[in-house]
Amino acid sequence: MKAVDRRDYSRQYPYEDSPQSIGYGATISAPHMHAYALENLQGYLKPGMRALDVGSGSGYLTACMAKMVGKEGRVVGIDHIDGLVEASIRNVSKNDKELLDNGNIKLVVGDGREGYVEDAPYDCIHVGAAAAGRPEKLLSQLKAPGRLFAPVGESQQSIMVYDKKEDGTIAEKKWLSVMYVPLTDPEFQLTRGL
Ligand SMILES: C[S@@+](CC[C@H](N)C(=O)[O-])C[C@H]1O[C@@H](n2cnc3c(N)ncnc32)[C@H](O)[C@@H]1O
Repeated sequence: MKAVDRRDYSRQYPYEDSPQSIGYGATISAPHMHAYALENLQGYLKPGMRALDVGSGSGYLTACMAKMVGKEGRVVGIDHIDGLVEASIRNVSKNDKELLDNGNIKLVVGDGREGYVEDAPYDCIHVGAAAAGRPEKLLSQLKAPGRLFAPVGESQQSIMVYDKKEDGTIAEKKWLSVMYVPLTDPEFQLTRGL
């Protein structure tokens, strides 16, 4: 995280340990949540690995993940709001343009609930907004072994960590209680007034 300056990704209070608005009804998550996610996924973000960041928003976490997987690795960030994906490309370009030029980071517009099959399977998948239930489509795009880190639930949410084992079976662990915005449709997000 020290290798990616949050000031490039959040105009207001970039170094506060709290979520900040990035427009379009979205927030950049709090640094401590990014730290929890990166620490939890570090075994699946080794040099050369491939990862998916669902709800990539500002692009900050995608860039941190890309620094971890290095020059031979690739991280795809997917968000459903075009304006956010354009902004994330501008943010990454400020200090890490080569990550985009070399294909270590790919930022795309799409419904992250469907994952991103073009670059699947992934060593790990991070989800930055809450899924209503067990994210089966995303689990199907994980390698074996692979790990998915996602907030899951509606009124009560928890970070769920799903480990796909070498034989393809999945172990799940409830980790932290959290409060994330939901994985949703652009219409809902842009009108809910965050
Ligand atoms: C809490 S923000 C986190 C953003 C990012 N991790 C960051 O810290 O900048 C959640 C993100 O999920 C995105 N999102 C919500 N529903 C989505 C969907 N169905 N597909 C893709 N992205 C979605 C939002 O646009 C928003 O950028």
